[in-house]
Amino acid sequence: MSNIGTLGSRIVVAVVALLASAGVAAAGNSPRVNYMLHCMGCHLEDGSGKRDAVPDMRGVVGRFPHTREGRRYLVQVPGVSQSSLPDDELAELVNWLLHEFSAEELPAGFVPYGAAEIGELRRTKLVDVTATRTRLLEGADTH
Ligand code: HEC
Repeated sequence: MSNIGTLGSRIVVAVVALLASAGVAAAGNSPRVNYMLHCMGCHLEDGSGKRDAVPDMRGVVGRFPHTREGRRYLVQVPGVSQSSLPDDELAELVNWLLHEFSAEELPAGFVPYGAAEIGELRRTKLVDVTATRTRLLEGADTH
């Protein structure tokens, strides 16, 4: 009896350990999967967006990080800042989408976003998203 009990509890311990490690592995999705789950509904699979509603990210988003304000904008835009993703996954996602949709426009030596930077930026809301976006894209130091 007691042997079976010991075996049973060993099995329970092993299963719990297995579930715990699986949980750790499954805690974060890849950026591509997060994009599909959290962003694609509006931005579409190829980042092309929706005419007059959601901007086309292809060949454009890499222009923003040429300035500090543009770098902030990419995180403060509501779709990003208000996402339910944690800071680290959001950082990976933004870095991924910049390379996926606009690698050529990225500044030379682009420094990827980190979780702490994302956390700080997403706490500050943009007051006028559209005006900020227009001003940034018209800015002389983005090409
Ligand atoms: C409900 C629709 C919607 C969802 C969901 C959404 N976005 Fe957006 N996104 C927009 C709109 C609309 C804009 C244009 C700026 C604005 O008006 O907010 C935008 C702008 C952006 C921009 C700036 C591009 C530019 O050219 O100005 C980025 C980067 C971005 N979104 C990334 C994301 C990411 C990453 C996600 C998922 C975590 C996401 N968005 C989810 C609608 C959405």
